[in-house]
Amino acid sequence: MVTSIASDPATTIDSLSHTADELTIRWADEQTSHLSALWLRDHCQMPASRNPNNGQRLLNITDIPLTLSIATATRVGNDRLTVVFEPGGYASTYDTCWIRGNCYTLNNAYDDRSAKHKRLWKKNDLASDLPTVAYPQFAHDLDDETRALRYVAEYGFCVLTDVPCNSRQVLNIIAHFGHPRITNYGDIFEVKTVVDPNNLAYSNLGLGCHTDNPYRNPIPTVQLLHCLSNSTHGGDSILVDGFRAATVLREESPTHFQLLVGNWVSFRFSDDTADLRSRGPMIEVDDLSNIIAVRFNNRSISSIQLPHERMAAYYEAYRHFAEILEREDLKVTFKLEPGHLLLFDNTRVLHARTAFSSDGKRHLQGAYADLDSLYSRLLVLERSKVGV
Ligand SMILES: [Fe+2]
Repeated sequence: MVTSIASDPATTIDSLSHTADELTIRWADEQTSHLSALWLRDHCQMPASRNPNNGQRLLNITDIPLTLSIATATRVGNDRLTVVFEPGGYASTYDTCWIRGNCYTLNNAYDDRSAKHKRLWKKNDLASDLPTVAYPQFAHDLDDETRALRYVAEYGFCVLTDVPCNSRQVLNIIAHFGHPRITNYGDIFEVKTVVDPNNLAYSNLGLGCHTDNPYRNPIPTVQLLHCLSNSTHGGDSILVDGFRAATVLREESPTHFQLLVGNWVSFRFSDDTADLRSRGPMIEVDDLSNIIAVRFNNRSISSIQLPHERMAAYYEAYRHFAEILEREDLKVTFKLEPGHLLLFDNTRVLHARTAFSSDGKRHLQGAYADLDSLYSRLLVLERSKVGV
């Protein structure tokens, strides 16, 4: 008895046609792929073009003449097709699954960072239910580690509870997903009241919503704050979803939004041993106009240099964004207790704190790390779970 396996209509070719410049595939699910000859040659998956072990491309773009054309295109069995190119007669065979999964007329470019793929939030969305994972579970159960990192990817932050109140413990958290970003502050930094601080973060003043270190390039993209003690009055933590705030700005005034996207400003941190300077937009978008980062730090914004005729409009936009960031309905407020650790995306989530009394003790240890290793760890954990 012959058993037939039903093929997936999405990867089954219904018809194939071509011109010199373009291959057209009509799929059995009635979708159509249009693929340029140059793209097809550049994306050849054969061992002559790709290292079979690591998949990395072996040919250079300058190896492909712009006069390249498709001579023939032929189905091979049910799941492959062969394209012959001229000049030269090079033949490349592709799996239909690969073509369908990578076809640029049917798939969007990979994107796991932009606001389009996030759960944007405001106060009422999270007020009574912060994304939280207990550290003992995070440390010993890969599903719980995955959940915590997924919270950071989707909400921009996660609170770990029951973290041992040991000095430098914050580095043990980073070791799960990456490496610390060592800066002029060291591998960790202390956030506690000091006399004559070089940074207002080390005073007991309240701090407005900000992202950290916009004066660096690259900016540290992950921040961790581990609470070792907090017996003061006040000193509550405040978080704002910068992607949400930027989305609100775009809705209320596309002109203001565009002013903050299109004009770069300078940031600076300077003390006896460091002088860090960088420029960037307060709101950064990708090539598809999706929001991908916010930079906002009133303390470290430096001399704003813009064309004079644009300055008044820029200030209007800057002030509008600052006013949105201070809206109560966007702020999630909570008290970090000893043993709590805040892990957050410094390209998206702004943090602030209320002023606190000089009696009692408030001591946080912080560290920076990077999103690329966090996302990589998350993808590897999720990939191993689904077995791909
Ligand atoms: Fe900060």
